[in-house]
Amino acid sequence: MHLSADDVRSLHKYDLRVLQSLEFLMSRYDWVPVEELTKNSRLSASEVNYRVRRLVDKGMIKFTQIPYPSYCLLYNGYDTLAVNHLAKKGTISALGTLVGEGKESLVYEAIGTGPVILKFHRVGQRSFKTVQRSRGFLPDKGHCPWIFASHLSAEQEYIALSTLHRTVSVPVPLLMNRNVVVMSHIAGANLNVVTLAEPGKFFDEIIEGITKAYKLGFVHGDLSEYNIMTDGEKPVIIDWPQWVAPDHPNAEEILDHDIRTVCQFFQRKYQMKIDPDELRSSVIG
Ligand SMILES: Nc1ncnc2c1ncn2[C@@H]1O[C@H](COP(=O)(O)OP(=O)(O)O)[C@@H](O)[C@H]1O
Ligand SMILES: [Mg+2]
Repeated sequence: MHLSADDVRSLHKYDLRVLQSLEFLMSRYDWVPVEELTKNSRLSASEVNYRVRRLVDKGMIKFTQIPYPSYCLLYNGYDTLAVNHLAKKGTISALGTLVGEGKESLVYEAIGTGPVILKFHRVGQRSFKTVQRSRGFLPDKGHCPWIFASHLSAEQEYIALSTLHRTVSVPVPLLMNRNVVVMSHIAGANLNVVTLAEPGKFFDEIIEGITKAYKLGFVHGDLSEYNIMTDGEKPVIIDWPQWVAPDHPNAEEILDHDIRTVCQFFQRKYQMKIDPDELRSSVIG
């Protein structure tokens, strides 16, 4: 289920209070008992009862009767808390349409000082395990690990964009909160759907981007034609949460895979002759 701007807009301050209490209590409980929620939100039992029913209907929280009557926060609720924070801070004034839905995220347009992108990280259970095994940055503890992992994933992407954007062509990060990264909107299209006039030049610029990022301590880790956009002139490399540092034990293999994937795309679509091994040596320098 997706986040809807109307649902966020129509929330009452008590709905938000209940969501905030639930978020806080999730650090202690897998399932938050109704009485705890009532106590923490400082609302009457009947008010809480009314609010939780609305929030369940909006797909923001979930109820279970077993082993005891209790609630847990869902992604829509967590996303809503983040949007509310961004709106209060003045970072965004309106939530726009859904422009991208990946394996691990929902991407929305929004209005800030200009058009911006909100990327809501949503690490799924299956990929949580894979990511944990291959990258090792996710702890396997705490309540509600998916929400926790999504927050970490957003943080990782924000760290990469913050360091890279001055030197490498990537979206400019504006803010992050919970599982959401706010970044500049790239007016363009993904590389898989465009036909480049000068593929050779464009390819060189991608390799230059990979090289600069490597020197700054970042190997992308999921590079492909789907994670490169073009703004009409140059490549913009997006989707950074899974980056690894060059001293990561698998960094060389991951870099190799990134370079090969990009090479294969240009070989296939533009019949370019490229030697990925030579390129890898030049990136590592
Ligand atoms: N800064 C941006 N500007 C414009 N579109 C974007 C931006 N970031 C992401 N998108 C769109 O959303 C899609 C999904 O985003 P991405 O960061 O690749 O996440 P995922 O991990 O879900 O693939 C992208 O393929 C792209 O079409
Ligand atoms: Mg992507």
